[in-house]
Amino acid sequence: EKFVVIMAGGRGERFWPQSRLRRPKHLLPIVGDKPMLTQTVERLEGLAPAKNILIITNAEQRDAVVEVCPMLPPENVIAEPVGRDTAPAVGLAMELVRARDPEGVFAMLPADHVIHDAEGFRRVLSAAFEAAAKEPVLVTIGVEPEFPATGFGYVHKGEQYSEIDGLPVFRVQRFVEKPDLETAKSYVESGEYYWNAGMFVWTVPTVDAAFAAHSPTLHTALGKIKDALAAKESIVEILAREYPTLDKISIDFALMEKADNVVTMPSAFDWDDVGEWPAVSRHHKQDAAGNVIKGAGWVEQGSGNIVFSENDGHLLALVGVDDMIVVRTADATLVCPKSKAQEIKKLVKELGAHE
Ligand code: GDD
Ligand code: MG
Repeated sequence: EKFVVIMAGGRGERFWPQSRLRRPKHLLPIVGDKPMLTQTVERLEGLAPAKNILIITNAEQRDAVVEVCPMLPPENVIAEPVGRDTAPAVGLAMELVRARDPEGVFAMLPADHVIHDAEGFRRVLSAAFEAAAKEPVLVTIGVEPEFPATGFGYVHKGEQYSEIDGLPVFRVQRFVEKPDLETAKSYVESGEYYWNAGMFVWTVPTVDAAFAAHSPTLHTALGKIKDALAAKESIVEILAREYPTLDKISIDFALMEKADNVVTMPSAFDWDDVGEWPAVSRHHKQDAAGNVIKGAGWVEQGSGNIVFSENDGHLLALVGVDDMIVVRTADATLVCPKSKAQEIKKLVKELGAHE
């Protein structure tokens, strides 16, 4: 059987002040009219039945996730008692799928990406399911890089060994998570690398073997979750007891950089991670001077600004400034040049004002 598990436990700090711990990026309509997570689930229509779509989030966000995903059975929304990054989330997903089908094939998807071509997305995912079911490989979706991003993982393309539904499947020589700028530049120039889209497809036995080989401690701890699920213990009790003991590490470092059975299929659809405020310009209507204005805002003699006012009639007015991010919410206002957007995460940490 096919399953999809969505990772929706991120904190979305880079979109402060609109994004908060209880209402992070994936629960907001950063792009489009619906929360990013709702769009992510709707995009799966026809790929897997609703009963086989699971969401792994955290305790703070669970109620909101259930609310924005009315098309899913509420029991399919699982809350981690504490955040442990994506490797434990994948491990938990593996055990949840195993309990339903020990040979199951499943996709791990991020909750907050912008993809307009839903049909193209489903075609690539279907092919990726097939690739993962056919051979013991860890399938990644690769995106043609547009610039030397340091916020993404990269896969070094090897030989093409298969084709499914007209889509090539390449071996991966090496997976590198978030390289520095110089390295990223050399990767993009070589033309031999894809960005890792953060979407993975594999079977329970294949990813289980990868945990055993590359993250043995995590694998052992996951075994306890497996046994408890098999003994029909309640998931809330199991996670309260076992989850805090798991290593905090991302799937990219825990498995993908180490495994030698990674393959990649290029995304034949549009893809944008929309990782920070400046990226929203790519998805909103801009005025003649390149300003993006949402809510009550006005720019006089200025260009390239992003102005977001939560719609309570409070007018944000800018005169003679360029390339600024100005975001107003009920309890906080951010003013930040676009060039410093990556500092917002630090600000949030220092303020401790993310609640
Ligand atoms: N359940 C759960 N628990 N989900 C989490 C957690 C967690 O502790 N931490 C993050 N997530 C979710 C996020 O909400 C997001 O949907 C997804 O997992 C990926 O996490 P990010 O924190 O956004 O990862 P990233 O963007 O820094 O890097 C990953 O994605 C890039 C593409 O967007 C990596 O896989 C990179 O290699 C990749 O290029
Ligand atoms: Mg991300």
